[in-house]
Amino acid sequence: MIKTRQLFDQGTCTYTYLIFDDESKEAVIIDPVLENFTRDTTLIKKLGLTLVGVLETHVHADHITAANKIRHYMNVKIYFGSKSGVKGADVLLDDGDQINLGKENITAIHTPGHTKGSITYYIDDKLFTGDTLFIGGTGRTDFQGGSAKDTYSSCKNKLFTYSDETLVYPAHNYEGLTVSTIGEERQWNPNVGDVIKEEEFIESEKRKERPYPRKFDIAVPANMSCGPKD
Ligand SMILES: [Fe+2]
Repeated sequence: MIKTRQLFDQGTCTYTYLIFDDESKEAVIIDPVLENFTRDTTLIKKLGLTLVGVLETHVHADHITAANKIRHYMNVKIYFGSKSGVKGADVLLDDGDQINLGKENITAIHTPGHTKGSITYYIDDKLFTGDTLFIGGTGRTDFQGGSAKDTYSSCKNKLFTYSDETLVYPAHNYEGLTVSTIGEERQWNPNVGDVIKEEEFIESEKRKERPYPRKFDIAVPANMSCGPKD
């Protein structure tokens, strides 16, 4: 049986996910944050898990990844999207690639929009959507090869092909919401749901004025090489 733990970074409202197979005790961690290295690795040990991979949804601009540090201490592989442009990842994922976890597989879905190389991970009727699809929103599209057109297409043509009951676990939420479903987002998402047309979303993205991320100049260069080793 696949189990999931949703972990929260208070500084940046980032969700990290620990996903494991109860039988084999194999685990992967999605989008770990450097500051939470001790918390996350302690939990992995406490649960008696063997970490087999660090999965990144994209090159984050708001925090530094713990990927390289976890690889250094736990000897695991780092997975990134093949279009992310990162250096030093062990596996570069293309659309449809599978990652083994116990008897199950995690599917990588290339969902560009927030960044060119964004990946959504699917396992056990759950989608880990990174910053492509949020609960009632979508990630900004104004840097890192972002494209509103791509976000719209990734959501409509890829994520919304999953069943209504599929759970949506994003990389961030700033209001305390933790999980949604494909059915809810298809119906009500103000950016990519049935309530808006593609042209309207693209136009509204152009008009949005967003603050420059506080840690952008430190986080992006660090994350382009999977974060610091120590
Ligand atoms: Fe992001």
